[in-house]
Amino acid sequence: MTAVKIIDGLYWVGAVDWNVRAFHGHTYNTQKGTTYNAYLVVDEKIALVDTVYGPFTADLIENIKEIIDPAKIDYIIANHVETDHSGALPAIHKLCPKAKVLGTQKCKEGLYKNYYGDWEFQEVKTGDKLSLGKKTLTFLEAPMLHWPDSMFTYMVEDAILLPNDAFGQHYASSQRFDDEVDPCFLMDEAAKYYANILLPFSPLVLRKIDEVQKANIPIKIIAPSHGIIWRKDPMKIVNAYVEWAKNTTKKKVVIVYETMWKSTEIMAKQIADGIIDSGGVDVKIYDVGSADKTDVIKEMLDAKGFLIGSSTHGNDMLPHMAGFLAFLKDMKPKGRLTAAFGSFGWAGGAVASIEKMLKESGIEVAQPGLGVKFVPDANEIKACYEFGREFAKKIGG
Ligand code: FEO
Repeated sequence: MTAVKIIDGLYWVGAVDWNVRAFHGHTYNTQKGTTYNAYLVVDEKIALVDTVYGPFTADLIENIKEIIDPAKIDYIIANHVETDHSGALPAIHKLCPKAKVLGTQKCKEGLYKNYYGDWEFQEVKTGDKLSLGKKTLTFLEAPMLHWPDSMFTYMVEDAILLPNDAFGQHYASSQRFDDEVDPCFLMDEAAKYYANILLPFSPLVLRKIDEVQKANIPIKIIAPSHGIIWRKDPMKIVNAYVEWAKNTTKKKVVIVYETMWKSTEIMAKQIADGIIDSGGVDVKIYDVGSADKTDVIKEMLDAKGFLIGSSTHGNDMLPHMAGFLAFLKDMKPKGRLTAAFGSFGWAGGAVASIEKMLKESGIEVAQPGLGVKFVPDANEIKACYEFGREFAKKIGG
């Protein structure tokens, strides 16, 4: 990708990573790739806002060179320490060694512990300003959105917010703007990103959006550090964040199971039929052993109910389910109802183990779990169906 002009004096100079499929270790499956968005602000002084992941340093340098000589950069704004945005900083700084690096105090600590660079660093706090000539940058600390060092940069005269990870999507594309891509697809990717990265920080998201709204700051464009830039209707993504952060849910149940010899799968389908026949409740079913976990968590974002099933193995749940529930616990979903089910051969154990983990996650276990020995018979099939109907009532079906 070449540099893209956003407005006079502001350019996208980042990189598109078409091939990445595992992000943050393997906690996020980036089936659509991602982008590392860096922005060049050109005025009497020149500022680079964020860089890119290290392996994409050459793309960043090439894009900057289309606009200016990198040696002319006066400031590098580091909104976030994480290496997907700071990895190219050491190489860029070599091209503009007099450039000052700006970021929060936590950013300073983090950058040093990552790169040990001998750079002139200016710590900034919320409300601090940096004049580039006709354009002014101001900074808004955003701790835990999603790291302690996180910060937003705001272009005052142009009303453009550069919020780094917030409002992003993992989506590699040759388009850069929301009015150039399918809006439903875009919101789906943004929801997936929120569910898998920002959900645990929802109270902070609400507080930060409230802070910005009370400050009456106009926002014409939101240019995040991953994915597409919101210029058609930037409030659309802000309003969606408010709903997601409030844990607003629908009459929807996500059934997630792992099965050894299909008995737990049979149970899952019968439970689903019970819910569907109750009417008015949407149901999704996933085998966690084969489904994309990132998609499952996204489906859970607006679901009131989660039903979790596993066969018993060694008196416990199966290992994919254990890993999935550990991740779900980290996401801290609020205001949801849940219940457990599963088949067993000897003594059982998975249902109790799932319930324990769900309770530890702060998710309400709304009804007793359902266990079936080996393959469900006709009565047990009926019990699964009734289990689904009972749960549907609790969801409002
Ligand atoms: Fe996109 Fe927190 O890094």
